[in-house]
Amino acid sequence: MSFSLADEFPLREGLQYLNHAAVGVWPRRTARKVQAFAEENMRQGAADYPRWLGTEHRLRQRLRRLLGAPHIDDIALVKNTSEGLSLIAYGLDWQPGDNIVISKQEFPSNRIVWESLADQGVSVRYADLAHDDPEQQLLNLMDARTRLLSISSVQFGNGLRLDIRRLGQACRAQGVLFCVDAIQHLGALQFDAQECLADFVVADGHKWMLGPEGLAVFYSTPAARDRLRLLQYGWHMTAEAGDFDRRDWQAATSARRFEPGSPNMAGIYALEASLSLLQDVGMAKVEGLVLEKARQLRHWIADRDDWQLLSPPQPERGAGIVTFRVRGRDLAAHQALVRHLMRQDIICACRGGGVRLSPHCYTPLSDPDRLACAIDSFVHA
Ligand SMILES: Cc1ncc(COP(=O)(O)O)c(C=O)c1O
Repeated sequence: MSFSLADEFPLREGLQYLNHAAVGVWPRRTARKVQAFAEENMRQGAADYPRWLGTEHRLRQRLRRLLGAPHIDDIALVKNTSEGLSLIAYGLDWQPGDNIVISKQEFPSNRIVWESLADQGVSVRYADLAHDDPEQQLLNLMDARTRLLSISSVQFGNGLRLDIRRLGQACRAQGVLFCVDAIQHLGALQFDAQECLADFVVADGHKWMLGPEGLAVFYSTPAARDRLRLLQYGWHMTAEAGDFDRRDWQAATSARRFEPGSPNMAGIYALEASLSLLQDVGMAKVEGLVLEKARQLRHWIADRDDWQLLSPPQPERGAGIVTFRVRGRDLAAHQALVRHLMRQDIICACRGGGVRLSPHCYTPLSDPDRLACAIDSFVHA
């Protein structure tokens, strides 16, 4: 590695950024790439468009690697996770009586879209993951009318990491489509779409992938995407894209068929640069560092009798998210506590019933006292 992580993340003095599960920080190289792209646009517009397409191609290759996808044809670039999930929900052909299994703890993007199918006679079943065997809770709800299991591989509230391989195998065995919301996973932990037998994987790039908001990856296997009716049309999604004199057209067989028009090129420049950082470090190393930070936070929390860990204590269940609460305080108090921490330059979120901390691989965690003092000054005020 010919660069230092500290140099790539020159956060302002005193800022403790523990909020990658909400919106991540851009590395220095990303900021520079976007600045240069803006300058280029100002000076010469799209005179060098083929080079832009080269960056777009590199981003697709990086996403393919990050996901463990067999081919870049399986990767579509969409606006956000919610859009990707909507392409699935409104692309599939539902029958009244069909059901979808999700969890009670899902982020609203991976719940509302399925609930919106109620007027087509489709019901949603909710598994409670607060259990020793959360995967079994999901599998118990599947029956002959289950068409889809849609789950976040890492839960946004408490950071619970699910055994998606086990879920994928069960889905495959029962002919159920398997959709993974990987926004709290990709960029923090290693991922393998083929190994977990996912039919669909969706994730926006603005959290652990350290990119901007508004550019997401939508992975589909060829068989799964063939089952989706197309919902959006334009020049870019055809097999003949770029041949503007041609009148006949057909949808591309690749996942580009989900990309109707011009790409978000500024976002592509940014995300490509951010992923280059993660992949230069190497995802195995990134994962090791993220898990070590999370372990350190769990250790600090365990040291305090008045704090209660809400994240799973088992390392194999953990990811980059560590959530805890101050005993005897309600949700409103935790919301106020998080506002207090933010005023002290400790950036975190109130989620999952407590304070959610989410450091990335580069985050310095040298000072447990700072967090403790900030919390104590609020609790004892
Ligand atoms: C599990 C999960 N899914 C989706 C999202 C966001 O979805 P979108 O990319 O549509 O904004 C979040 C954001 O917090 C999330 O935690």
